[in-house]
Amino acid sequence: MKLHTNLNRVIGIRSQMLYGHFIEHFHRQIYGGVYDPGSPLADEDGFRTDVIEAMKKIKVPILRWPGGCFVSSYHWKAAVGKERQPFFDKAWRVEDPNTFGTDEYIRLCRKIGCEPYICTNAGTGTAEEMSDWVEYCNLREEGRYARWRIANGYEEPHKVRYWSIGNENYGYWEIGAKPSGEWGRLVKESAKMIKHVDPTTELSAAALTDIHWNLELLEESGDFLDWISIHEYWDGIHQTNDYADYEQVMAYTHDIGHSIREVRGLLEALKLEKKIRIAFDEWNLRGWYHPNVHTVRQGITKEEYLYPRDKNDDNTEYTMADAVFTACFLNELNRNCDIVGMANFAPIVNTRGCIFTHSEGIVLRSTYHVFDLYVNYLGDVVLDTWSEEMPTLEVTSKKGEKLVIDALDLVVTKWSDRPGIALAVVNKDPDRTHSITLPLEVSGSRVMKYTVRGNSIESYNDVDHEEVRIEKTEPGMYEEGMEIMLEAHSINVIQIV
Ligand code: AHR
Repeated sequence: MKLHTNLNRVIGIRSQMLYGHFIEHFHRQIYGGVYDPGSPLADEDGFRTDVIEAMKKIKVPILRWPGGCFVSSYHWKAAVGKERQPFFDKAWRVEDPNTFGTDEYIRLCRKIGCEPYICTNAGTGTAEEMSDWVEYCNLREEGRYARWRIANGYEEPHKVRYWSIGNENYGYWEIGAKPSGEWGRLVKESAKMIKHVDPTTELSAAALTDIHWNLELLEESGDFLDWISIHEYWDGIHQTNDYADYEQVMAYTHDIGHSIREVRGLLEALKLEKKIRIAFDEWNLRGWYHPNVHTVRQGITKEEYLYPRDKNDDNTEYTMADAVFTACFLNELNRNCDIVGMANFAPIVNTRGCIFTHSEGIVLRSTYHVFDLYVNYLGDVVLDTWSEEMPTLEVTSKKGEKLVIDALDLVVTKWSDRPGIALAVVNKDPDRTHSITLPLEVSGSRVMKYTVRGNSIESYNDVDHEEVRIEKTEPGMYEEGMEIMLEAHSINVIQIV
């Protein structure tokens, strides 16, 4: 494939928040994941130091919490201070120990060095409860909630800038789900109260790609919003856990950016694209496995809805399919960085996350190395590119559709603070090596290639088993028209510096 680019045709400077993450009170993400006071690997605050270090290495820029479905019946006031009781989490139908609340979450964010991003309860919660939360976190000492924070030992405000009003309140599965008209009004009233407490906050609201829902939401509350929140899990295996295989996953990469395109179109039609940005604040190839949890079938047992959740933590299932897909979506986020300002991989620890914890340490799954590659080796200025002679791949989707897709997926970047360019090029082909002819007019001489791949499409990482990592090679000095080989099922960052 011949690649063309123009160093002066800039799509945008991508926010580092495109590489954000999400953590929820679900299964072992918090308890037994990042927060494990009983572990010998925990620090004085109960956080797993190995997990913190792994999160710092991929420079987690923002961490969304506490949910997800969990938040739609969560009351933050019961989870601060010294007098706390375990509570029954009605979303996931399990007792929450309630030892991890707002103050512990802020401590976690400070240790990682990331922005907090709190999703509020718009299910059973109220505009007042949400704005009280902002008082607790952001007012210095005015009013009972800021004084409560001080009494709990936090003299300085938590300075939470990013807040989401609700989580998927459009969905039948969500506690406190609402029709669009009611939703727009609740968002407006909640946003009004939050902004009255702290006008420096940036607010998002739960939305989706449905034009009618979003139209009503934005007409009612667009003036109060800075973000619109959308989610996507392509392999929807919440009930079945029947993983799409490599070929089926490649089919998911076809039109991978449709949600962004649809929401962008609506924002532009409403002339809001300069005011409201997209927060893709939950995404992952794989839906989380939690069968039967949203059903109300009489007499359903924990064997049917609770115990199967352990199957999310089978590391052998997170292969090059997950890594290749993740890279393709990160490319799509970069290509749309003019309107997508935040994205949160869901989740970061355990379940479908890129970091798995066990009693003696952690496993960095294949997707972790993709984040490492993009965060640490790619530029921040995204350039316009076009290509000739793109190789193709014939695949069959999980639904049996036959598709012809591009075999390569790429984005070209440069740095805002130094010369050179960096290309992220994904070879989706399971079997064939492909080549790319580098663009002309590039300042830089040395070519270095950083590649994430395993021996096969089924390669994975597990305890005492590492197949997928970043490998560095140096193809040599740059020459115009230089050809670089891309191995099958690989994710590559090629730097010309
Ligand atoms: O499967 C996890 C759930 O997916 C999250 O809690 C929710 O936000 C989304 O529906």
